[in-house]
Amino acid sequence: MTTPPVRLALIVGGEREQSTSSTIARWFAQEVRTRPEFELDVLYLSDFPLPTSGPSWQPGQAVRDVLATSVPRLTEAEAFVVVTPEYNRSFPAALKNFIDWHLSEWRAKPVGFVLHGGGIGAGLRAVEQLRMVFEDLRSGTVREWVTFHGGATAVEGDRPRDDADAKLAVTALLDELAWWSLALRHGRAALAYPA
Ligand SMILES: Cc1cc2nc3c(=O)[nH]c(=O)nc-3n(C[C@H](O)[C@H](O)[C@H](O)COP(=O)(O)O)c2cc1C
Repeated sequence: MTTPPVRLALIVGGEREQSTSSTIARWFAQEVRTRPEFELDVLYLSDFPLPTSGPSWQPGQAVRDVLATSVPRLTEAEAFVVVTPEYNRSFPAALKNFIDWHLSEWRAKPVGFVLHGGGIGAGLRAVEQLRMVFEDLRSGTVREWVTFHGGATAVEGDRPRDDADAKLAVTALLDELAWWSLALRHGRAALAYPA
């Protein structure tokens, strides 16, 4: 019996106009599409205008309409990769807002990171903080990651300047993510998650 592909949601965490995040995300998406064990969905935060006043249990119709597009896509996902820049030693507020508006959709699923920052730290501080956020949401973050430093200079045209090294990191990340995704697919099917 063939194993159905892992449904991977790529969340683009930077949403500035012509952002480095979107260039890196487009390149990463191309890399994922070379791997038949994944089925990719790409989510841009700008497509989900959710209030920054925080999640509400009784949202108005406009918010319900937005959630009606985000919730099914996150629910169907079996794994996530978040592309995030580092802003002031953390991750973007818009990304946290999007994460906070969802809850069980993240649970018992693996999360990987593609990170970038202006400094040599390459966004590591943003990701270490994101790991805590996802731990609270009962997701499992994976160790391997793809990192870029130098901000906009990390990319040249539509790809990373150091393509070869980045591709090796992508392979390691996707290999680890595939393992966790399949293990947790079976785990979720076999065992109820403790309430
Ligand atoms: C408001 C703001 C704060 C930033 N703070 C940091 C930072 O603390 N550390 C860092 O390495 N880079 C920092 N940067 C640089 C960005 O992380 C870097 O240029 C990134 O590639 C920008 O991604 P984007 O175009 O998707 O926003 C900051 C950029 C902005 C706009």
